[in-house]
Amino acid sequence: MRKEGGTVETEESLRREILEKTKEIFKLRQQEEKFIPGKSRIHYAGRVFDEREMQAAVDCALDFWLTLGEKGDRFVSDFSRRMGMNYGLVTNSGSSANLLAVGALCSPNLAHPLRPGDEVITTALAFPTTLNPILQYGLIPVFVDVEEGTYNLDAGRLESALSDRTRAVVLAHTLGNPAEMDRIMEFAKEHSLYVLEDTCDALDSFYDGKRCGTFGDLSTYSFYAAHHITMGEGGALLTNSLNLYRQALSLRDWGRACYCRTGERNPNGACGHRFDQIFDGLPDGYDHKYVYSNIGYNLKPLDLQCAVGVEQLKKLPEFTKRRRENFETLFNGVKQYEEYFILPRALPKAEPSWFAFPLTVRGDAPFTRKEIVTYLEQNQIETRMLFAGNILRHPGYRNIRSRTAGELIHTEKALNGSFFIGVYPGITNEMIHYILDVLRRFLSQSAEKTVGTED
Ligand SMILES: Cc1ncc(COP(=O)(O)O)c(C=O)c1O
Repeated sequence: MRKEGGTVETEESLRREILEKTKEIFKLRQQEEKFIPGKSRIHYAGRVFDEREMQAAVDCALDFWLTLGEKGDRFVSDFSRRMGMNYGLVTNSGSSANLLAVGALCSPNLAHPLRPGDEVITTALAFPTTLNPILQYGLIPVFVDVEEGTYNLDAGRLESALSDRTRAVVLAHTLGNPAEMDRIMEFAKEHSLYVLEDTCDALDSFYDGKRCGTFGDLSTYSFYAAHHITMGEGGALLTNSLNLYRQALSLRDWGRACYCRTGERNPNGACGHRFDQIFDGLPDGYDHKYVYSNIGYNLKPLDLQCAVGVEQLKKLPEFTKRRRENFETLFNGVKQYEEYFILPRALPKAEPSWFAFPLTVRGDAPFTRKEIVTYLEQNQIETRMLFAGNILRHPGYRNIRSRTAGELIHTEKALNGSFFIGVYPGITNEMIHYILDVLRRFLSQSAEKTVGTED
């Protein structure tokens, strides 16, 4: 293309110009952002990005490859390496990753797959899609209580949940707070159980110096906008088992047996055996791409999402640092109010990268959760319930086939009294101090009201 001044405009120079403009747009928007206490909303979570993520997305859009490809490969390789795991795959969400993980454990291609009616120990204080795949695959969840303050599966209750049908433990590191993995793994080993770690909220959290997500057979991650890093929507699954990886990949990609890359240019597949394999019941040399070894789905993300993920992953150490700092400042500000709240607590060997800051209003506090949450929201501080609280109380779960081992005392407390506020890197020190001011104001008003009532 010839420009007015006579210079030849190549695609490369046009692309550079577009990316430069993208950066300018980011800078313009950045200038408009200013925190006004009481007016600006303090979200519990959100995207934290700069021109690099925007440029990565625009650059990828210009390539117009669209489906999962090079950027997906790059993200999986960077992510697996950082997590220190052998195999990984990307998905369109963390929920999908959980579905694939449980699906892989049920795959007929395993030597000892989970089968309908087998029991899986888990918690009822849950995000729904940690539990749902267990139900969707006909497995029976056996609920144990969580610990007070960590909101994690209470490892001391595992033994009481055991039966001769127990085959797996599925746990989430609640709000980024590591579960007691040494005890859980010891129990799992003793009873030959599979372990699935839902690490959707706990990217970059450690237990006993080891990353959450690297203890069990499989781990899952979410890159939804609220999470430690984001692709908008997205997820991942990691494992050190080649067979579990292959089953999860097959399930993600329509259930097909072939594990060559989508869009592979070699007509005979990357494996070189696309047309020369023999499968029982199928004609000789049936295209391996169209041989189905699992009953699968299509749960792939777009390459563009992965391009954003590649940039986000580079920022993870800084994000984690900010999450920890924000958590600590909030904790130091509220620890004096222990008479009103159950404060968040991490186990001695845990190094959480907190997803959020949970508080549970005590039953004898002079205010209710509803009152404090309403006050915070009115003052532009966003709150959330601790996911389902007790998922067994929810309308969709009333008739599920399940078993409960012991009483769910702390799960019920979470249902009735817990909520959380944000610690994500988009929350500045100024915002944290504003949050603490609002909390103090609410608590002193509540205390005054109580004194007034006593008069
Ligand atoms: C513990 C846990 N597991 C799974 C998910 C689902 O992730 P996604 O929203 O990417 O499907 C979430 C979502 O926040 C979560 O908190």
